[in-house]
Amino acid sequence: MTAAARAGAEEDVRRRVPDVGSLMAALDRTNYLADAGLATALFLAVRLPQPILLEGEAGVGKTEAAKALAELLDTPLYRLQCYEGIDAGEALYEWNHQRQLLGIRLAEVRDTEVTETDLFAPQYLLRRPLLQALEHPGPRPAVLLLDEIDRADAEFEAFTFELLAESAVTIPELGTIRATHPPIVILTSNRTRDLHDALTRRCLYHWIDYPGPARIAEIVRRRVPASSGPLALQAAAVITRLRTLDLAKPPGISEAIDWVSALAVLGVARIDPGITEQTWGSIVKNRDDLELIGSRGAAWLVEGTDG
Ligand SMILES: Nc1ncnc2c1ncn2[C@@H]1O[C@H](COP(=O)(O)OP(=O)(O)OP(=O)(O)O)[C@@H](O)[C@H]1O
Ligand SMILES: [Mg+2]
Repeated sequence: MTAAARAGAEEDVRRRVPDVGSLMAALDRTNYLADAGLATALFLAVRLPQPILLEGEAGVGKTEAAKALAELLDTPLYRLQCYEGIDAGEALYEWNHQRQLLGIRLAEVRDTEVTETDLFAPQYLLRRPLLQALEHPGPRPAVLLLDEIDRADAEFEAFTFELLAESAVTIPELGTIRATHPPIVILTSNRTRDLHDALTRRCLYHWIDYPGPARIAEIVRRRVPASSGPLALQAAAVITRLRTLDLAKPPGISEAIDWVSALAVLGVARIDPGITEQTWGSIVKNRDDLELIGSRGAAWLVEGTDG
């Protein structure tokens, strides 16, 4: 049964993602634009299958890549947002102590007996993303996103990886839970620290480059359908110029999307220094950066960007 289910799921995934070109087109239909390098890396992650580590600057589409992949495979995305101090209870499972206590109270009121087996039954388990991804019943494997793994401690990183390598987990009170459909795993990192060799060795790796203005404009057009082509191009050119300054928080794709959304709401068809100054808040989110940009002037920023 398990082997048959797994073979069926593999065939299903192969049909949906027969080659790199089809994956690229399917990503495009979800409004995620991937170049050939990223599409190839994601294709291999799905088809080998092998976990993939995506790195790149803030806002280059690491998290979104996992969402797009889950959407095109029509399968759930389980996301674990990592942070310093995250532990197995947050990632895998915890016992629901409150419900267990309630169970004990109810039994007292009804004058019935509760055993330990009653209290450590599956209905008292709080399933966290790793367990949910392992238990996913199909028909296709789930996508598991371990987002910003570099923020977690090194021990936690090692823990998640061992678990994923085996696609199984042992819960002392319940026994071993083995995945029928091991999840497609995407890890992301912003490189705040180096990751374990043991982790990188087991993963495919892809560095997502910061896109040029033409691609930023294309992404903006997809995400803000109300915007015009020339406005998106101009905004992308301004953002690209802003990024040549030594800013603490250089604006990225998200800021370009936010800015063009704001300009569209304001009914702006063409960016000029005046409107730029009035809408700084969409693209510059830091006082020092604002001063630095102010010293160059909005005119410098906008000059020559309207074609
Ligand atoms: N290639 C792309 N195609 C479509 N949209 C994109 C693409 N890259 C980024 N975006 C858009 O840019 C925004 C930021 O992307 P995302 O959150 O995935 O970045 P990230 O790399 O995870 O950033 P961070 O490191 O800050 O978490 C999203 O709103 C997404 O819609
Ligand atoms: Mg992210």
